[in-house]
Amino acid sequence: MNDNNKFYNIITYGCQMNEHDSEKLAGMLENMGYQATNSLDKADIILLNTCIIRENAELKVYGKLGSLKPLKEKKKDLIIGIGGCMMQHDEAVDEIYKKYQHVDLIFGTHNIHHLPDLIEEISKNRNRLVEVWDEEEGLIPDLPARRDGDYTAWVSIIQGCDNFCTYCIVPYVRGRERSRSISAIVTEVKKLVEDGVKEITLLGQNVNSYGKDLSEKENFAELLKELDKIENLFRIRFMTSHPRDFSLEIVDTISKSTKICEQFHLPVQSGSDKLLKAMNRGYTRSYYLKLIESIKEKMPEAAISTDFIVGFPGETEKDFQATLSLVKECSFDMAYTFIYSPRKGTPAARKEDQIKDNVKKERLERLMNLQNEISYLQNKKLIGTKQEIFITGESKNNSQRLEGRTRGNKLVFIDKTPDLIGRLVEVKILEAKSWTLDGKLSKIIK
Ligand code: SAH
Ligand code: SF4
Ligand code: F3S
Repeated sequence: MNDNNKFYNIITYGCQMNEHDSEKLAGMLENMGYQATNSLDKADIILLNTCIIRENAELKVYGKLGSLKPLKEKKKDLIIGIGGCMMQHDEAVDEIYKKYQHVDLIFGTHNIHHLPDLIEEISKNRNRLVEVWDEEEGLIPDLPARRDGDYTAWVSIIQGCDNFCTYCIVPYVRGRERSRSISAIVTEVKKLVEDGVKEITLLGQNVNSYGKDLSEKENFAELLKELDKIENLFRIRFMTSHPRDFSLEIVDTISKSTKICEQFHLPVQSGSDKLLKAMNRGYTRSYYLKLIESIKEKMPEAAISTDFIVGFPGETEKDFQATLSLVKECSFDMAYTFIYSPRKGTPAARKEDQIKDNVKKERLERLMNLQNEISYLQNKKLIGTKQEIFITGESKNNSQRLEGRTRGNKLVFIDKTPDLIGRLVEVKILEAKSWTLDGKLSKIIK
């Protein structure tokens, strides 16, 4: 098909892995001749890429699906497709197939490469299709992605998760861990660099598991070393690191590299040993504290962020206090805080000692207030320092300013000079807020 007047719109929920999958869906649609549009009215194909990590992610999807019905009534040829993690759960698939008759296509996380065939079939036969696989079959081709940023790109290095934290649905919807080979990843990154990309973020639910299913030589530290050699690449980031599998060898590799950023996302979830055990996280509070201490010792400038769940079944005020005290001890630069959401099929959802909603909300608020203060203090420490910033474009809220990020991934604004976009510069930090910094250009690095 090569009809130049056909448009698509993709609505994405969930994590960076889903965002990256959406880039691949977009890449395939563009190869089929579709163009991107922000307008749902104009679109000939609308895809929802869903997330099932917490209940509110699901509710958003149902709300959105409902709102698409009138569009389909106006435009009979419109193709509405829904894919992503929610579609790996039978119940959601049944519900959507039965109750949302305006949905033409349901697909899963393991068969996104089939999208072109599925769409062709629907366009030809105007039938409704459901194609969800339990796991990947055969060799999955590397798919062309349509990137959002000109200078930054995501690169998937490992799919799936084998950890089975007791609250989490990801292992059920994303399948077992599968690593891509170092050579496939290096080839992809080199190509991205040829296209002008200067900063890559390596993605995986647990990047430290990278290579466990490959040959002995292929592990995460080795991958980082190979990527570090690529010329004209400015920066390498990665996420997420599981504290249990995090090796100090990685810290060593990073300290020897100029490209790999000193940024660590190490989700701790709770400060209470009792809860860490019940969550099946595989580490203790003191192990985690020591890990953070040794990172800071080797790399004082490292930026460390984390995730917390409040209101896990059985969480007492004392357990929650242990979380608050861990927050104080670690001085995180940033934390993502979540209210525990029971997910059907996971062990924690079957527990009897679920926490009441009002208690969960109140704890979330206390945790957020504390972390906001600490994030602000961490940012304030940077005032007066000079930071390496990679300028990626105009500020979203002020076209007179440019934005970029520090090596620790903090957002910084400076006055606009158009020729700085895509450059690595040094900026003197003048002002700090909880989430952003303001600064002044001091020199261009490259
Ligand atoms: N693989 C990453 C996290 C992926 S999910 C890791 O293990 O660190 C992102 C975050 O969502 C988790 O770190 C956790 O804090 C949160 N989360 C996962 N399941 C949840 C649930 N059922 N309820 C609330 N938060 C949840
Ligand atoms: Fe979920 Fe745990 Fe896997 Fe992270 S490591 S995706 S929280 S099961
Ligand atoms: Fe990500 Fe949500 Fe799936 S967090 S892996 S999109 S369940």
